[in-house]
Amino acid sequence: MNNRVYIFDTTLRDGEQSPGCSMTVDEKLRMAAKLVELNVDILEAGFPIASEGDYEAVYRISKAFPWVQVAALARACTLDIERAARALEPAQRPRIHTFIATSDIHLKYKLRKSRQEVLDSAVAAVELARRYADDVEFSAEDAARTDPEYLEQVSKATVAAGARTVNIPDTVGYSVPDEFAVLIARIVKALGDSAVVSVHCHDDLGLAVANSIAAVRAGARQVECTINGIGERAGNCSLEEVVMILKTRRDVLPYDTAVATEHLYPASRLLGELISFGAQPNKAIVGRNAFAHEAGIHQDGYLKDKSTYEIIEPRSVGVPESKLVLGKHSGRHALKKRLEDLNFNLTKEELDIVYERFTAAADRKKGLLDEEIIDLIPDEARKARAAVSE
Ligand code: KIV
Ligand code: ZN
Repeated sequence: MNNRVYIFDTTLRDGEQSPGCSMTVDEKLRMAAKLVELNVDILEAGFPIASEGDYEAVYRISKAFPWVQVAALARACTLDIERAARALEPAQRPRIHTFIATSDIHLKYKLRKSRQEVLDSAVAAVELARRYADDVEFSAEDAARTDPEYLEQVSKATVAAGARTVNIPDTVGYSVPDEFAVLIARIVKALGDSAVVSVHCHDDLGLAVANSIAAVRAGARQVECTINGIGERAGNCSLEEVVMILKTRRDVLPYDTAVATEHLYPASRLLGELISFGAQPNKAIVGRNAFAHEAGIHQDGYLKDKSTYEIIEPRSVGVPESKLVLGKHSGRHALKKRLEDLNFNLTKEELDIVYERFTAAADRKKGLLDEEIIDLIPDEARKARAAVSE
């Protein structure tokens, strides 16, 4: 079986639709440029029927990066699909991503439709989408709580109707790895080579990444994920975590992605600047403490040989030499370099202010971490420079 795992980024769709994460169209374009640099395989740019802004974002991202596989979300209905198709017009490799819920809970309380009606809508949606794009993805919303027999029936029918990718979302983050792997293995077996099986896991029980990895082992070859794990409620599978698990543990997980991992940290930081929160300090891979060694015993081991306490080379994910905290002897050049690594290209005057604050702070403390250095930048310069530096 092919061991290439496709990374489908939904930071600008599932991520952006969650509280505190909305972005303007220009901000989405800046984030999209970072995602392109990161080399994600598919970039879901929005849900065009949801708002003018989403429509424009999909259109402008497709136009700015025509060679990129851009996806647009659409419910399983004509209006949504036609609008998604229009928004994707400038894209050379457009993907229409259409979805409908398949669990009995959603059918009964939300859609008020029978299983047959949902099956018919799913097939009709894929057929319509195929008139506009060769590349169509079908998602069975709430798949993890769907009767597996029915999920298999819907999956086969949508592939027969022209879907190239069938996505199995754990929409409410309810599944656990062993159970999810069994479900994925069943769908992979049912579809064979006729479509790529994808997963889209939410993190309500903190298992989104574990479930996605279990799914890859069971045969899924597309993982939907977001930078910093942003997304509805507790968020989505974190892109940086899933990518670095596959890269770091290739010995037991022999799968490849095409992600340029040195852009992970800059992408995480840019997202934090654009929305109203950044990664939590202890977040794996991109949190500010992810490579910080504070305890004496750890520092001692780390200084003797990094491998004692470090399983990932910080630079491989774009983290500057942050473990060596900047101190009062570091000098202006080191400070400027660190700020540039953090995406802040300051003017000479701004750097003078930061340097003066830095030397005062470094006199009081043993050393400053990245976040503390960023806090020294004057507010306006912090916002404005972050914008210019991308
Ligand atoms: O969580 C979900 O089920 C979704 C689908 C639209 C893929 O976001
Ligand atoms: Zn989702």
